[in-house]
Amino acid sequence: MRTAEHPIFADYRDSDPRAALREMTARPVSVEPRTGALIVTAHPLVQRLLLDPGLTNMPQRDPLDGLPPDRIALHRPVTDFFRAWGGHHAEVRRRLLPIFGRHHLNPLLPRLRETAGELLRGLRATAEPADWVRDFCRPYCLAVLGAVFGASDHDMDVLARSTDGLMAYVAKSGSARDDDLAVRARASIEQAGAAVRAIVLDAPASELAVALRSIADDPALGRPVAVAVAVQIITGTMDPLTTALTETLLHRADPGAGFTDEVLRLSCPFRFAVRYATRDMEVEGHRVRAGQRVLLVLGAANLDEDVFPEPLEFRPDGRENRHLAFGRGAHMCIGSGLARAAIGVAADALATADVTVEADPATLRRAGHLGADQILGLTVRAR
Ligand code: HEM
Repeated sequence: MRTAEHPIFADYRDSDPRAALREMTARPVSVEPRTGALIVTAHPLVQRLLLDPGLTNMPQRDPLDGLPPDRIALHRPVTDFFRAWGGHHAEVRRRLLPIFGRHHLNPLLPRLRETAGELLRGLRATAEPADWVRDFCRPYCLAVLGAVFGASDHDMDVLARSTDGLMAYVAKSGSARDDDLAVRARASIEQAGAAVRAIVLDAPASELAVALRSIADDPALGRPVAVAVAVQIITGTMDPLTTALTETLLHRADPGAGFTDEVLRLSCPFRFAVRYATRDMEVEGHRVRAGQRVLLVLGAANLDEDVFPEPLEFRPDGRENRHLAFGRGAHMCIGSGLARAAIGVAADALATADVTVEADPATLRRAGHLGADQILGLTVRAR
């Protein structure tokens, strides 16, 4: 940890954030003094609040409040983009959920198995030490997305790159005050809009693409909503799946029935579910005012000793695993089945392909924010 600030703001480039998350469970509910956010870490409470209708994921106050009009005009298209499908959440979710059901996903698995095997053999073929993120996770995640969008890996790469400016805006706290980031994010919205239209909406080649086209064509929803949903699916896949695949590699010697869920519990790629109170309420004796930010720390709940004995141990067969890595309730991850399948395919490939991949944990590089993990690199040798 590099700063003396509250652990949620600290920089975890040089240390495993799980130690801090684990320590945070000692205070099940607390208030972060700088922002006034309520921080909740106990598993039963986090689970209950994920289901509480008094909490929403839409900010109740305008993040641009207090800025002069010219700067509001600069940032507004970006904040609008992030709110684009919130107002239509139930309808969009109703259209998407069936597409991510098991029997729709099974036909995609052969392509993923083939890709995983090819990528592992590719690691062995390089003369230089390979990088797990660059040479396996990124192309594998693109193949996962390509399978559901009905797009080639190359087109998926174009789509994924178009979202970079938006991700930079999301990743930085206080970005609503950073004009350079807003300029980048606006360029990213343009690029993502053009790429989603050309690659997905104009010639829909999968059930997901057809659903997105129907959203774009529906006058009550429209193209900005379809683009925002596509962007969330892409950005919601690339980094979190990379985190889980890295955990998969580091534990591959321990396969078992509960392997995938234990990978998800321990890696917990999205560590916060951010919520806002829609009304005054009370949480374990803490008064929460309407509009107040409530941080449900999924990554800490998954290390709650009362629910997961020896929480930092990887025990694939030894626990009843009620982890919260995909959240719960109204916003529970739509792609959880796909993510589980993709992790399972990669774990099988690592266990059965005639390639042995050795990771050097000392080379692991991560961006260092606590809220959402981003693994940047990990040197591996394959033989
Ligand atoms: C290991 C991989 C993944 C993890 C850990 C993960 C985790 C999560 C979590 C925790 C949420 C809920 C956030 C909240 O309550 O505020 C969420 C929502 C979402 N996820 Fe995932 N996700 C993963 C992969 C995917 C994939 C592969 C897709 C789609 C292909 C996807 C699409 C979505 C969408 C669209 C939402 C928003 C749901 C809503 O608001 O109704 N995710 N994800």
